[in-house]
Formats: sequence, C-alpha cells, structure tokens
Amino acid sequence: MKQNTVYNCSVIELPKIHNRAGNITPLQSNIEAPFDIKRIYYLYDVPGGEGRGGHAHKELQQFLVAASGSFDVIIDDGRTKRTIHLCRPYIALHIVPGIWRDLTNFSSGSICLVLASLNYDEKDYIRDYTKFSLLKNE
Ligand code: TYD
Repeated sequence: MKQNTVYNCSVIELPKIHNRAGNITPLQSNIEAPFDIKRIYYLYDVPGGEGRGGHAHKELQQFLVAASGSFDVIIDDGRTKRTIHLCRPYIALHIVPGIWRDLTNFSSGSICLVLASLNYDEKDYIRDYTKFSLLKNE
C-alpha cells in the first residue's frame, strides 16, 4: 500500500456487447476486474454537484464505473494527484490500495458502481489525510 502511486491505477475499457436492443458490459472476477470480487455496492441519489469519498484503503482494491451519468474521481498518492472523469458504463477505474480518493461533480441521477476485493471493514479505511500523507511519505 505504501509504494502504490496514482500511476498504478488504470482506466480500463470493458467489453461492450452491442445489439439493436442495447448493450451489455460484463464484469467478472480475475477477467475484466484484476482481483476476486467480494462485494458490490453502488452510490446513487447523490445530489447533483455533491462529493463523496475522502479516504484511502490499506488493502482494498476497487473498480469504479459510472453505470449512469458522470462524476470525477481525484486520486492522490500523497505526492501526485490525477483527476479522472468517468462518464461511460464501459469504462472502469481500477484503484489499487493506498490511494486517497475524492469523488466530486456527480451529475444528478448518476450511479457509481463499485466492485470491491474485500468485504466492508472500517479498519481498512484511512480517513485522516494527514495520517495518510505521513504513512505514504515516511
Ligand atoms: P464510505 O465508504 O465512507 O462512503 P463514500 O466513500 O461513498 O463516501 O461509507 C459511508 C458509510 O457507509 C460508512 O458509515 C460505512 C457504510 N458502508 C457500509 O456499511 N458498507 C459498505 O460496503 C460501504 C461501502 C459503506
């Protein structure tokens, strides 16, 4: 977690199965997502323009997809920040452990689908940016 940088996070184009009745994008453990998917959750009813996140994880890996609408993800390794605009249901952002993330600029009605490598565990969170920054730069 300490060594990971924003450059270990990647934007991945997912398969899109297209026909006249619409599209399907599959997400499978260790195929499209490069880890075992243990948990799925989604953020919705986020008021337009609002933000979420504001934490890092010690072990958790995640895949974030704008299943509907759009939002920005600011990833930060304690030295470098990158902003990724997610706005397509066939594009995923892979966030490795040890990266601070802020989610901002949700469009109204948007859905942020999250595939996670671990079950929910509050002990895996780092919610204090000063503590995060010290850990990353020690
Ligand atoms: P948090 O991960 O901080 O949300 P976000 O990053 O979207 O702002 O979680 C917010 C609250 O929801 C926190 O009290 C923990 C709870 N929660 C669960 O109980 N299970 C989960 O799988 C998740 C993601 C959050």
